Amino acid sequence: MKKKITLIPGDGIGLEIMSATVEIINTATNNIEWEEVIAGNTAFEKFGNLLPEHTIRSIKRNKIALKGPITTPVGGGFRSINVTLRQMFNLHSNLRPIKSFEGIESLYKDLDMVIVRENSEDLYKGIEHMSTPDTAESIKVIPREASERIADFAFKLAIKEKRTKVTASHKANIMKLSDGLFLKSCQKISENYSQIKFDDVIVDAMAMKLVMNPHNFDIIVAPNLYGDILSDLAAGLVGGLGLAPSANIGDDAAIFEPVHGSAPDIAGQNIANPTAAILSGIMMLKYIGEDEAASKIDMALKEVLIDKNLHTKDIGGKLYTDEFKDEIIKRLN
Ligand code: NAI
Repeated sequence: MKKKITLIPGDGIGLEIMSATVEIINTATNNIEWEEVIAGNTAFEKFGNLLPEHTIRSIKRNKIALKGPITTPVGGGFRSINVTLRQMFNLHSNLRPIKSFEGIESLYKDLDMVIVRENSEDLYKGIEHMSTPDTAESIKVIPREASERIADFAFKLAIKEKRTKVTASHKANIMKLSDGLFLKSCQKISENYSQIKFDDVIVDAMAMKLVMNPHNFDIIVAPNLYGDILSDLAAGLVGGLGLAPSANIGDDAAIFEPVHGSAPDIAGQNIANPTAAILSGIMMLKYIGEDEAASKIDMALKEVLIDKNLHTKDIGGKLYTDEFKDEIIKRLN
């Protein structure tokens, strides 16, 4: 029986990269039935609602979604749809693999690490107010339960992927209560996994160490905001945002999406790199047990990336999005 997956193309380059990804997945397997729904600006223009009820119902029903980037209007009282979805479906763990690819010009070769980002708490709770007409306050929420859960997720991932070290990133020297609780939670959970090394690095030093010696890290676990920033930084080490996939995992649902946004500066030009979306699709296929299709696409993608003549513009090439997709499909066939 076919597995039904919710497909949200998203905004901007989302439309281009997600249609390429779906065509690639459909070439590799007949086992997926897509239920396409909309969210973000695309939905706002059509229904006057950034996150229509039928989109929410589709994710509730299918429990798995592949999602393109969504434009978040700045200011104006709009809440980020991404943050809303993560909180609505309790997608507490965000997995961001950082891997270098042969053929890609990047700062580092042979990099293979994962950033595990707590995905539902911290400053992303969106609890803000004006304490005086001239002072804005945002409240940072760090619950023990969510911190222990993300730490446990990181250690379980280390075991599953045969990794050796988990590093917690924090700023507990300044935010002694909130980041202090995050660090203590990670330390406590680490005691259950004596076979995995554990250490911690203050987030500002982590930014420097990631740039200078990224091979020293294996799994990094961090609260929401630091995880967000560090994973974009780490994506820059392996060739940029066009190559960085992610998974938002909860107990009852999971949403797979590229790390990058809707890139309005290049939308509609057929030049976006669909690799991050394709890699997110591969993560999704593995998650639902479609391992064969996942590894076929992975091999075809690597074969294309290894050839510099087949790169998209963001990584120094000349190929258009659909030409890049066609090269992958050629190899799948
Ligand atoms: P962005 O990630 O969209 O773009 C940053 C830079 O990277 C741009 O120069 C863009 O052209 C380039 N870029 C990104 N993805 C690329 C790709 N696949 N191929 C080639 N180049 C690529 O970040 P920005 O501009 O800060 O955000 C744009 C919008 O996206 C905002 O509304 C933001 O809120 C939203 N956003 C949505 C996310 C999501 O839906 N998960 C994540 C991040 C941002």
